[in-house]
Amino acid sequence: MSTVCLIPAAGAGTRLAAGRPKAFVDLAGQTILERAVRGVLDADVDAVVVAVPADLVAQAQAMLPDCHVVVGGAERSASVRACIAAASASFDADVILIHDAARALTPPDLFRRVVDAVRAGAPAVIPGVPVTDTLKAVEPGGGAEHVVATVDRSVLRAVQTPQGFTPDALARAHAAGGHATDDAGLAEAAGIPVTVVQGDLMAFKITTEWDLRLARMLLEATGV
Ligand code: C5P
Repeated sequence: MSTVCLIPAAGAGTRLAAGRPKAFVDLAGQTILERAVRGVLDADVDAVVVAVPADLVAQAQAMLPDCHVVVGGAERSASVRACIAAASASFDADVILIHDAARALTPPDLFRRVVDAVRAGAPAVIPGVPVTDTLKAVEPGGGAEHVVATVDRSVLRAVQTPQGFTPDALARAHAAGGHATDDAGLAEAAGIPVTVVQGDLMAFKITTEWDLRLARMLLEATGV
C-alpha cells in the first residue's frame, strides 16, 4: 500500500499579485511550495509529483530533490492531469492525494484522515469545514447588488485539500477532460460518491495578500 500526492502549483497567483507565481512566493524563509511539500512528506506520503509553470521546472526540481516535477497547464485541472500522467507512469499507489500548493500550512493529521477514509472504502474523500458567516445569494441591479435569498449555511461546507481518491475514481473523474476548481467537482460530475471528513482551519488557501499575512503571522507565532 502506498500513497502518492499530486501538487498543482502552476497557478499565476493573479489575486496575490506578488510579481511571481504564487507557489514561488516567500513564506517566512521558504517558498509556499517548499512548505506545502514539507507538510506532505511529514505525513508519510511515499511519492510527490508537482506541476509548475514551464519556465520554473528546473528551479523547482533543484529546490525539491525528493519530488518529481512536471510542467503544469493553463487551468488547475490540466495541471492535475499532467501530474496524473507522470504518477501513473512512475508509481503504483492505492491512494492518490491531490493537494493545492497554496494550502501550505496543512497539518499532517489531515492527510492521514483523508488517506484513512479512502482505505476504509470511500472512492473520493474531501476535507470540509462548516461555514461560519451568514450567506446571501445576490444579483446586480441599478449599480448595486441586491439580496435574492439567504442560504441555509447548515448544509454547506467550505472544501479544502488534500482530496483523496482511489486510482480508478481519479481516472474516471478526469476521463472527460473537464475543468473544475477542485477534483471532487469532476468526480461528482462523473457520478462518483464523494465523502466529507473533518477539515482543518490551518489548511486555508493562500489566495490574497491578507492570507499571506495570516500565514506569516501563524508561522511566527508557532516559531516554525
Ligand atoms: O487559483 P487557486 O488558488 O484556486 O489554485 C489552486 C492551486 O492550483 C494552486 O496551488 C495553484 O498553483 C494551482 N494551479 C495550477 N495550475 C493552474 C492554476 C492553478 O497548478 N493553471
